[in-house]
Amino acid sequence: MKLGVNIDHIAVLKAARRIGEPDALQAVYVAAQNGADQITIHLRGDRRHIDDYDAARIVQNSPLPVNMECGFDCIGEVASLAPHRATLVPEKREEVTTEGGLDVEGGFNRIKEAVETLRGSAIKTSLFIEPSIKAVELSLKAGADCVEFHTGRFANIYAMLNSNLSRTPYSIKPLELSRTALAAELRGELKKLCESALYAQNEGLMVAAGHGLNYHNVRDIVEIEAVGELNIGQSIVSRSIWVGLAEAIREMRRLIG
Ligand code: PXP
Repeated sequence: MKLGVNIDHIAVLKAARRIGEPDALQAVYVAAQNGADQITIHLRGDRRHIDDYDAARIVQNSPLPVNMECGFDCIGEVASLAPHRATLVPEKREEVTTEGGLDVEGGFNRIKEAVETLRGSAIKTSLFIEPSIKAVELSLKAGADCVEFHTGRFANIYAMLNSNLSRTPYSIKPLELSRTALAAELRGELKKLCESALYAQNEGLMVAAGHGLNYHNVRDIVEIEAVGELNIGQSIVSRSIWVGLAEAIREMRRLIG
């Protein structure tokens, strides 16, 4: 299983002060030396994560392939930066993070056009989608090389079932259910992930997954054989505060095999 380390959270810390540290490129070197297979960064329309200067430095200097997440309004910039892969994600200015996968049905023409533009610059394209057969079918039709399944709902259910989240201010209201109901929801979400991943793999797509994965819930996702890559950011960067980035990446590497 490949490990993509999402270093946006380091870029966010730098953006908070608009000074030179922490340098996201330094994080790329640490990731490369400690078992990461890929670097993921998100070029947002409002540049609140990585900025153009660091995005260019990372693409030019990274010893690992760079997977650049972007919304529709950054396709031109991504095409000229030419990372190894672009992952098209839905982007809403007011959201804290990428909430939900692309609307592959409603936005099909726009997505297909973006895939063609990126392909014209020899960039492999991934679509960040919900785990459903329909979304995979449409991704294939749009010409994507890869799909990344959004594991956010899985992670939310997992946290409500296996932690004390429901007793905190961060409780997820629609998931305030009995333990039995949460366990059934978790099984259902994992089934959707397994079936969609297998379908995508059989159709020749590269299969990735990510969002909300951490040192606890990642074990369930590692079991899904058709998933070849995980992109993980928040949990690794959070853990790095306590153990350092190198060790945080090594620990995740050991868990995902
Ligand atoms: N994959 C995609 C497409 C994402 O948008 C994100 C969040 O930026 C991640 C993976 C990583 O999510 P997290 O930071 O929750 O691990």
